[in-house]
Order: sequence, then structure tokens, then C-alpha cells
Amino acid sequence: MPSPTVVWKIDPGHPSPEILAEAAARLLRGELVAFPTETVYGLGANAFDAEAVRRIFEAKQRPFDDPLIVHIAKVEDVQMVATDFPAMAARLASLFWPGPLTLLLPRHAALPGEVTSGLDTVAVRIPSHPVALGLLGACGVPIAAPSANRFGHTSPTSAAHVLEDLDGAVEVILDGGPTPVGIESTVVDVRPTPAVILRPGGVTREQLEAVIGPMRYAEPGERQAASPGRLPRHYAPRAELILCPGDTAQTIAASIDDHARRLAASGRPPGVLAVSEVHRELRSSLGPVFDLGGQDDLLGIARRLFLGLRTLEAASVEVILSHLMPAHGLGLAVNDRLRRAAHPPRE
Ligand code: TXA
Ligand code: MG
Repeated sequence: MPSPTVVWKIDPGHPSPEILAEAAARLLRGELVAFPTETVYGLGANAFDAEAVRRIFEAKQRPFDDPLIVHIAKVEDVQMVATDFPAMAARLASLFWPGPLTLLLPRHAALPGEVTSGLDTVAVRIPSHPVALGLLGACGVPIAAPSANRFGHTSPTSAAHVLEDLDGAVEVILDGGPTPVGIESTVVDVRPTPAVILRPGGVTREQLEAVIGPMRYAEPGERQAASPGRLPRHYAPRAELILCPGDTAQTIAASIDDHARRLAASGRPPGVLAVSEVHRELRSSLGPVFDLGGQDDLLGIARRLFLGLRTLEAASVEVILSHLMPAHGLGLAVNDRLRRAAHPPRE
């Protein structure tokens, strides 16, 4: 039986070696340890311990056909989990690791099939968060870790979010404060030409293309085949999310106002998740609002997105009104999460 969940505060800049050593010891005993990465909190297990990896799926209520990302401490450790490191992957790794980039590599036979859901590839990254790196260094094994949320729910960007979803199902939560990037890593497959972005994330398409030339996004169907966990509906708050159309702050605000009036009239005042420019244009008096910050600060928007969804969900609204962000840079990853959280539209 799992032991009760403990939450240990840890300095995100200078994590205590004693706390890291204790967490590493628990992880090596087969326990689950949630920890901050620069993107979101991960739910970690020793990647070589098939039983512990199975417990990740149970804790998250995640289907076994949705493979996990394996986190390593240094680039030499690739050989512990993969049989090859193609030149293009190594090039990207040399520039973006440690950081929010996950690369698909041929899976090493030593890795339990549970980690990769039986696929012949393994998804690998080196996180840049000092707590994640410290934990990896202290335990000396690769750590398999999906985002530390219940399957399908909004990803966790704080220890409180992890506790909300996984209290009692995880032994240790390392609380290193809010995560700086706020959305997950970019998942890339460099084997096809052009290389494919399976999931947009913290490293942008523009950054990657500057290094390896043109890439393409996986089509939804293809995404599902290559990356079975990519269900259309994901990252979803309990409330219904509606994305209101518009090209400018004024037109988006008019569309939100329109929806809000109709919802309020039917006794369901909505929450609003929008950038500051849109908030300033709103006319109707509404339910709770969450300001994502200025529309040009995509880094800030990415960092606050999941917090905003969870905050409005906690305010018990039935409906959240939001809008798409500028479609470049991190805006593309933010829009991917918004579309998935909104899918399928419910009336
Ligand atoms: O930023 C992140 O990537 C966070 C932190 C904790 O590292 N992790 C994360 O893991 O987002 P998860 O499990 O929530 O998302 C992993 C994604 C899923 O869409 C999964 O299907 C895909 O990566 N994936 C994992 N292994 C794969 C593989 N061998 N082939 C294709 N897709 C894979
Ligand atoms: Mg996830």
C-alpha cells in the first residue's frame, strides 16, 4: 500500500542536497516522487523499475498505451535508454538541453516496455530545473515522468496542483514553487524528413527550424498513431471551455460579452480567462476573471495558462470563456493546449 503523501519544500535555485538525497532514496525504493521541472511538475519513478512505472499509470489513471518521457541528467546518459543518437537529434540536444525539448530515439532493450507502451522509440529529455537535475543526479537512474496530474486534467504548475490531483497516490511531492515555463516540452521526431513536431511546447518551431531547417506539425490522426496519448480532449478543466473568436482585443471582447450575457441570462455566469487588452474592453459585469497578462508577453501567458484554468475551475464556474493567442512562438503551444481543453464543444 502506498504511504501517505508528504510535501517537502525545497529551494528551487539551491535545492538542499539532504532533501534531494532523501527523495532519491525513496524513488530508488520504488516510490513515486513528484518534482518541479521548468515546464510542469512531473510524477517520477525509476525508469528501470517496471513495477514503479506501472504505479505511475495507476496513480494518474492513465491508459497504459500512452508512453512516458524519460528524464536523464546528462547527455552521456542517452546510451542508458536509447540505442542510437542520430546526428540531427544530437545537434538539437547540444543546443536545447537542458531544456523543454523531448526527442524520440530508438528504445534501449533495458528499458521496461511499460515506459514506452511497447513502442520501439523512447521519448527523452534533460530538464533544466535545478530540483529536477538535482534529483536525477542524486538517484543516478533515468526518471520516467509524465505530468503530475490526473489523466486528461490540466497540467500542474505548482505543488498544490499536484496535491489536488494525486493526494494519497504519490509518496513525495517536492515543492519548488511555480514552474517557470508553464507548458510542457516540445516533442520532436527527427527520423522523418522533414522532422515532425508531435507536440508544440516550450521550445518553439522557429527556434528548432533555425537549426535543422523546415519542420512540420503532425496531423491530428498521425499524432495519435505516433504518440498514442495525444487524445483530442486533454488539459481539460472541469468547467466547459469556450474559445471566443475575434481578430482584435475589441472583437474578442465583444464576442465574450455576447456569450457572457446569454450565459448569465440562463443562470450560468461564466469565468473569463483573457489577456489584459481584452479585459480592458469588456462591457458586461461578469463572474470571476483571470488576467493572463499582456498579449505580447507570450512567456507570461504560457506560465499563467494552467494556473488560470485551475483558478477559474476552483471558483466553481460551469463555463470559462477564453480566446486564442497570437499564432507565433509560444502562442502556438498555448493555442494547442487551449484547443484541446475546449474539445469537443459542449452545448
Ligand atoms: O514538459 C514535459 O514534457 C513534462 C515534464 C514532466 O517533463 N512531461 C510531460 O509528459 O508532459 P506527458 O506524459 O504528460 O506527455 C508526454 C507526451 C505524451 O503526449 C506522449 O504520448 C508522448 O509524449 N510520448 C512519450 N513517449 C513517446 C513515444 N515513444 N513516441 C511518441 N510519443 C511519445
Ligand atoms: Mg501530460
